[in-house]
Amino acid sequence: MLLPCAADKPDPAIPAASCGDEGLTINMAKFYITTPIYYVNARPHLGHAYTSVLADALARYHRLKGDEVFFLTGTDEHGQKVERSAKAAAQSPQRFTDELSQAFRNLTPALNLTNDDFIRTTEDRHKLGARELWRRAKKSGDIFKKKYAGLYCVGHESFISEKDLMDGQCPEHLTAPEKMSAENYFFALSKYTPLIKEYYARHKNFVIPEAKRNEMQAILNDGLEDISISRETSQTSWGVPVPDDDTQVMYVWFDALTNYLTALGFPDESAPLFKKFWPTDVHLVGKEINRFHSLLWPAMLISAGLTLPEHILVHGWITVDGQKMSKTIGNVVDPFELVKNYGADTVRYFFCRELVIQNDGDFSYVKIEERYRADLSHELGNLVQRTLTMVEKYANGKTPPPSHGEAAPYLESYQNAMTIFALDQALAKVWEFLASLDKAIEEMKPWVTVKKDPAAVNALLYRLLESLRLAAIMIAPVMPETAQKIWTALGLSTLRPESAILKWGGLKEGTPIKKGVPLFPALNK
Ligand code: MSP
Repeated sequence: MLLPCAADKPDPAIPAASCGDEGLTINMAKFYITTPIYYVNARPHLGHAYTSVLADALARYHRLKGDEVFFLTGTDEHGQKVERSAKAAAQSPQRFTDELSQAFRNLTPALNLTNDDFIRTTEDRHKLGARELWRRAKKSGDIFKKKYAGLYCVGHESFISEKDLMDGQCPEHLTAPEKMSAENYFFALSKYTPLIKEYYARHKNFVIPEAKRNEMQAILNDGLEDISISRETSQTSWGVPVPDDDTQVMYVWFDALTNYLTALGFPDESAPLFKKFWPTDVHLVGKEINRFHSLLWPAMLISAGLTLPEHILVHGWITVDGQKMSKTIGNVVDPFELVKNYGADTVRYFFCRELVIQNDGDFSYVKIEERYRADLSHELGNLVQRTLTMVEKYANGKTPPPSHGEAAPYLESYQNAMTIFALDQALAKVWEFLASLDKAIEEMKPWVTVKKDPAAVNALLYRLLESLRLAAIMIAPVMPETAQKIWTALGLSTLRPESAILKWGGLKEGTPIKKGVPLFPALNK
């Protein structure tokens, strides 16, 4: 996506580029973005779809901008939670995980995701890299054996302290933790407190948003504690074997975090993907797993002599009609159903516009239908249809000669919002832009003006068409199908990075438009 130089704001993730003679700058950079890898103890739900869509929108945005992007997702298949779910389903863990992993893989075509790879922690390529990371941490003197006893919450796949219990139960999973005592391997996390503090001090935007950064900073200020990173095979055998000790398997989080490396070819640091994309630019994670990514993961990487990620972007949780999603309540929303009812673009739009990334948000059928009716069908769909109809009527169905428009402030605000990952704000700007166009139509009333001043109508029509071209580019990361439909209606071909020029004047005079069917027809209710 080429940007007017004047509007170009420094982007922390991108090295500064100078302006060429033509007043444009091309910020070519690499962009590696990941979702958490999903536990395969149950089928994908709305929350998983949400994370994947946010990551996809950011990946698509960077691709359109001309960056080289690697977008990774996948499944986290080891640990007690998965092992027990397989047992309850009377299946072998391997068969069980094969089936559920496929269900997560199916999110890609359903939601129109563009992930470049899909990693499973049961794959050999992953286990190889996870074991190598262990070896490196051991070589750094960070792995030692220790006897301990504690309370373990299988839902969390982590220890939980007495003070965090409510009536003897984990407040999130509403189950009593299990007493565990064993001799396991530990990772010397406490040793890394000062180094990680220093990293936080030097990288103010490491954890985004600030509130989530502060939470991590508070834990750091108290000091990190060493963490158990293995399980005896007598407790659980469903895991990556610990190097040089087949009586233990790795703790699921120690294994899982390394997926971000192993998908790039680690331990082969000369692998082309590893060389090009490491370190990660954005690890997108839900708030409940922030601490694993923002505290444990950096320590593991330092221990293994690897570069740390640029950003951990933390998002909030989605409730359904104000309640936490749960099987007991029976309010778990199936993303595949949602896409069947409303289409992928509408679901994607809802996630990115209605939900503010750093806050918790709420899903309801009423809300998604309201967004469909008001924003998509009424504001966007009608404007496109109205514009095309007027071009047919007053300009022989062809793009009139270029005229001026008021796009620059919107383009700039959009770009700034995207740079700080504020998808909702970026979309709000696009909709303000659309509203300004509606207003211009109402003010001029082309159906009246055409009789006395056809040139003024032509100028307005060019402004409308060109603005829709720009709006299509801006919505493309979130609504790729709709963006392409608009692009096609304008008589343009495929919306690609080379053609996604966010600069006024891209439409050529005389281009025949192709009015199609309305973009968002009334919902069948
Ligand atoms: N397997 C771990 C992650 C390991 S990453 C090295 C895990 N998996 S999970 O399947 O339980 O959750 C993965 C992600 O799903 C969460 O971080 C969060 O992004 C998303 N969500 C799950 N439920 C959610 C909501 N109700 N709302 C929003 N997102 C939530 O944790």
